[in-house]
Amino acid sequence: MARFDKLVFSGVQPTGNLHLGNYLGAIRNFVALQADYDCIYCVVDMHAITQSVDVWGGPAELARATREVAAAYIACGIDPKKHIVFNQSRVPEHAELAWVFNCVARIGWLNRMTQFKEKAGKDRENASIGLYDYPVLMAADILVYRATHVPVGDDQKQHLELSRDIAQKFNNDFAADIARLGHADGFFPLPEPLILGPATRVMSLRDGTKKMSKSDPSDYSRINLSDDADAIAQKVRKARTDPEPLPGEVEGLAARPEADNLVGIFAALEGAEKSAVLKTFGGGQFSTFKAALVDLAVAKLGPIGAEMKRLQADPGYIDSVLADGGARARALAAKTMDDVKDIVGFLR
Ligand code: TRP
Repeated sequence: MARFDKLVFSGVQPTGNLHLGNYLGAIRNFVALQADYDCIYCVVDMHAITQSVDVWGGPAELARATREVAAAYIACGIDPKKHIVFNQSRVPEHAELAWVFNCVARIGWLNRMTQFKEKAGKDRENASIGLYDYPVLMAADILVYRATHVPVGDDQKQHLELSRDIAQKFNNDFAADIARLGHADGFFPLPEPLILGPATRVMSLRDGTKKMSKSDPSDYSRINLSDDADAIAQKVRKARTDPEPLPGEVEGLAARPEADNLVGIFAALEGAEKSAVLKTFGGGQFSTFKAALVDLAVAKLGPIGAEMKRLQADPGYIDSVLADGGARARALAAKTMDDVKDIVGFLR
């Protein structure tokens, strides 16, 4: 089977509400990549259940959030006909390849994963095996399609490195069998991260030193993708600021996290540099800048919220998109698994 030279895979977890950080940090990039790559965008419901059930909210919430992520993909401009949108658990080959990869990955590699340490917290003995194994499933997600490029944020770079290590060790361990089956230069590609545009780290609207997060108890800390125009406007108006006027230069934002965040959000939504934003608004009061940010945010995000609402009112349509995407994904994944079985020596 010929390898794709350009295939994108990425995933978003269906936990909690999607917010501006998910859009600017991830989904917006997914949309842009459609022009140059074949893309597979997954709702990673199997990753969602790695934390305790009160974190992901139970079955009804998982189903709701899975449809919400799918609706967001579509509302933001991902074309589920030209590309593939589906939820992970529909394609059992992800879990099947993860098992093979469990036997390739080393405990020492997983012990270095910083996200496990963060998520497991102090009570590591009580974390699920799934949480520990999370990066191996992620490697299987990507490699079951032999995807070459993975748009990810900074926090997932270490996991992507691990995917490369797993791909490489598999290629080495089974080099003779891979060659025997006619694959010239290794079976799995070493997937590369794609970081597009200025790294947009969106911080809380209430505290510019904390990441915007779905788990923050204050809804005013974040702009949800499903917020309507009024909610967006109110949250921007209420966003925390400091008493100084905006600086004229980017350096002037250094010790001013709230100002830096709002200017960064403006720049990202506008597709401009922060310096250009400060050329326009530097020296002026926050009230003037915020009024412009309200207009911009409502213009860019209002239609996404409205489209999500429309889609979510029709869960039958979303489910049909996921079923169709799942069937197309599965056809690709099954081919890879057939080859993997032949390589490893599993009779089929
Ligand atoms: N771990 C990713 C996150 O939390 C989600 C994810 C799962 C993913 N599988 C993936 C991202 C494969 C890229 C590729 O953001």
